[in-house]
This record gives sequence, structure tokens and C-alpha cells, in this order.
Amino acid sequence: MKRHPLTSSRRQFLGRTAAAIGFPSIVPASVFGQNAPSNRITMGVVGWGMMGPGNTNKFLAESDCQIVAACDIDKQHLESALKTINGYYKNTDCRSYHDYREMMAAKDIDTVMLAIPDNWHGVVSVEAAKNGKDIYGEKPLARTIAEQQAIVAAVQKHQRIWQTGSWQRSEDNFRIGAEIVRNGLLGKITRVEVGLPAGHNDFAKTGDKTQVTEPPAHLDYEMWIGPSQMEPYIEARVHKNWRWNYNIGGGQLLDWIGHHGDIAHWGLDMDSSGPSEVRPIQVDMPPRTDIWNTATKYRTEASYAGDITMVIAGGHPDIKSGTTWIGEKGWLHVNRGSYDCSIPEFKKVIKKREGDKVVEAATFPKLGDDIIKTRLYETPGHHRNFLDCVKSRKPTVTPVETAHRSAIPGHLSLIALMLNRPIKWDPVKEEILNDPEATKLLGRPFRGDWKLI
Ligand SMILES: NC(=O)c1ccc[n+]([C@@H]2O[C@H](COP(=O)([O-])OP(=O)(O)OC[C@H]3O[C@@H](n4cnc5c(N)ncnc54)[C@H](O)[C@@H]3O)[C@@H](O)[C@H]2O)c1
Repeated sequence: MKRHPLTSSRRQFLGRTAAAIGFPSIVPASVFGQNAPSNRITMGVVGWGMMGPGNTNKFLAESDCQIVAACDIDKQHLESALKTINGYYKNTDCRSYHDYREMMAAKDIDTVMLAIPDNWHGVVSVEAAKNGKDIYGEKPLARTIAEQQAIVAAVQKHQRIWQTGSWQRSEDNFRIGAEIVRNGLLGKITRVEVGLPAGHNDFAKTGDKTQVTEPPAHLDYEMWIGPSQMEPYIEARVHKNWRWNYNIGGGQLLDWIGHHGDIAHWGLDMDSSGPSEVRPIQVDMPPRTDIWNTATKYRTEASYAGDITMVIAGGHPDIKSGTTWIGEKGWLHVNRGSYDCSIPEFKKVIKKREGDKVVEAATFPKLGDDIIKTRLYETPGHHRNFLDCVKSRKPTVTPVETAHRSAIPGHLSLIALMLNRPIKWDPVKEEILNDPEATKLLGRPFRGDWKLI
């Protein structure tokens, strides 16, 4: 284990010493000042908006993890991070960083949790990997396929452990559904439907703040824009709502492909492959000059080996939200909190309360090894799985290569919708075929001096 060089004898020494002087064997960080005890995995968290606190709370709850640093370029968010982390540990030890590069250079940080806007994923993840950090990073892997490829290369080169925030793989209904598909119990799969949200959600409740103003003093707006193109500050397109503007994010399509598209691939055994063609079917795309300019309604079709068609749609009621695999013998549907299958043997009917009423609902059955011959990766929890893999140096349930493959149908769909023509893709070489204009869209120009490597 590269960044955990302590031998067991040193660990035992620390444990014995702690016990001898009356400390518990896992010693609170405050006892040793800023450095966490060496039997804990130290973590720095980057980004304290919508997802940062949720991920951090999961890691705080793990007794072998110590969050030692927080980083954000919005002072108010950073203060809130420190309050939560120090409040949890009942000390004032958590260090604060404005510039992620300084946090990445800190030698006493083993792992980082990244919950920053999509335009930053490439640059920050590569910097983290170069500095020997193991990484819990959010989906989609990055804003473009080129940025994703750079992350994969850096994680592989520096032999880092990576977990993606595609946490649905750690939920039983998604895993068992994918297992049934993977074991051929629906017969040959011909079609998979990936139903994603449509429209724009005003997550930050700033949708009416559409005027150009000075950025607030607590936000380093220049850094927030980072490698994207500089645009005037408009509150409605900054925190949380950045995902509705293509300068920073990728709309509902890229926000969600790393969830339901990821599960579709899991069932199809496509974690190392991808589509050979993606065709645009329908799109409602606001003008590029709109503050929220990402597609509000969209549909594409992707061809996979074995004559499988994947439909990816948002705002099309015939495509149910979640993932539906359709095979020659029947269909199976999974979504957050739900599971259903057309084959009675592969579902369990339960009674559940809906308000005052008791209704029948479907859930997954427990199938034996005689039926499920190939079991999929089962975790004790998504965040727990990351920490376990940091220790064991084994791959997580959503390693970087999987996250890359899971997001590719979303990226290619966006390119096909923008150009309004089918895109041919070589999933082995990871290249768009015979289309220089589309090939250019595999990456985006970076502003100023920002670079991936
Ligand atoms: N797995 C999930 O279920 C899930 C859910 C929501 C969001 N996400 C993902 O999490 C990521 C963050 O999304 P969000 O909704 O939390 O965004 P957000 O805008 O709410 O928060 C991002 C935070 O990062 C900070 N930040 C921006 N650039 C930074 C930089 N260079 N250095 C340090 N801090 C920086 C911002 O100030 C902000 O506090 C996105 O990739 C998103 O897709 C995942």
C-alpha cells in the first residue's frame, strides 16, 4: 500500500503506546495535533456545495477515516465545511485551503473527496493522482471524453484507487436487477432504456437572478470559472445551477448518465466497451445565449455489439425513469427505491403502505447460486467500499475505467444532438470515425494556463 507505509509493528507500537498512556487504540486527531493517527485513512474534501456535505458525512461516520482538510473557493462554503467537520470531531483541527493544489501537495493527506463542478473534474483529479492521492470523485467522470481519458491515464499511471459517486451500484435493487440480466435470465437482451430527467431544476433558488453583477466578495469567481471560458457573473448560473449551462456542465443528460446509464452497462457487461454508433432522435435545445442553455428534452439511440439498442431519453414518457432491460423472455426495471420484472419468478410481490392504503409492490427476490451463477460486486456501502479498497488496493465497485465507459454514451449523445447527425464510435480505440467536426467536440479549449497534465 503505497501511501500507507506503516508496518504492522509500527501500527502495533502506536496502538500499544496509546493504550499505555490511557488513550483508546484509535486516537482522536486532536491528540496528535494536525496529523491524524496513522491507523486512520486521512482525507481532504474539495467542494462544499450540494454533494460535498453528503459525501463528507458518510466518511465522517467511518471510524477509520479522519477528515483533516477542506477546500473551497467560496469562503462561506469553506466556513460551513470547517464547522461541520470540526463540530463532528469536537476540535478545531481541520485545515482549510483555498487552492486545491496546496491541499494536494500536503503529504499527510492519503485520500481526497472531490465534489466540484464538472468543468473542474479533469484538472483537479489529475493533480490529485499525480500527488499520490486515492480519489473519491463525482460523476460524470468529466465534462468531456478527452478530460475523462486524462483522468483514467493519470489514475492508472500513479496506481491510485478511484471510486466514482455512481452509488447506485451499492444498492441491492440495482445490483440484483443487473445480476439477473447478466445471467441471461431475460434471454438475449435486444434493448435497454435509460430514462433520465428533463428540464432544468432551480437547485440554488437563484433562477430569477439573471442580471450581470459583480461576484460576491466571498466567492473567487475567476477560480470558479477555472478552465472554462470566462463569462460575466450571473448568480443563476453559478452554484448548483451551473449544470444547466454548457460552459460548466452538461444538463440533465450528463448529470444522470453516470447513474442510470452506468447501471445499464453493468447489466449488459459493457464496463469495458461502448456503443458503435449514437443517433440523435429528438432535442429541445434552448439558444446557446440563454443562461440555462442545456437540452430540456432529448432522445438518442445507441447501437451496441450483439444487436443491442440503448435508448437514452429525458422528457419522453414512453421511457420510464431508471433503467429497463428488455430481453427475448421479458423485461426488468430498476430505479431509486423500485424494482419490477415481467417474469414472475424474478420478482417478489410485497404489500406496502401508500398513505392510508395498503398496495402491492414488486421487489427483488433472493435467488440462489443455482440460478445466479455470476454474482456482481456487492459492497457494504459505497463510501465504505472506497475505504476498504484504499486499504486492500483492490478495485472499487466503480473504478475510473468504469466511470469513463458509463459516461461515454452521454457525451456521444450530446455531440450527436448538437451536430444533429449520427456519430460513429470505435470503443476500442476510443475515437469518433470519419467526422473531424465531431472529433473536435471530444475536448474543449481550456482558458488561460489551465492544463490537464
Ligand atoms: N452522486 C450523486 O448523486 C451526485 C449528486 C449531486 C451532484 N453530484 C456531482 O457532484 C459534483 C458537484 O456538484 P454539486 O451539485 O455539489 O455542485 P455545487 O455547485 O453545489 O458545489 C460545488 C462546490 O465546489 C466549489 N468549487 C468550485 N470550484 C472549485 C475549486 N476549483 N476548488 C475548490 N472548490 C471549488 C464551489 O464553490 C461549491 O462550493 C458534480 O460533479 C455533480 O455532478 C453527484
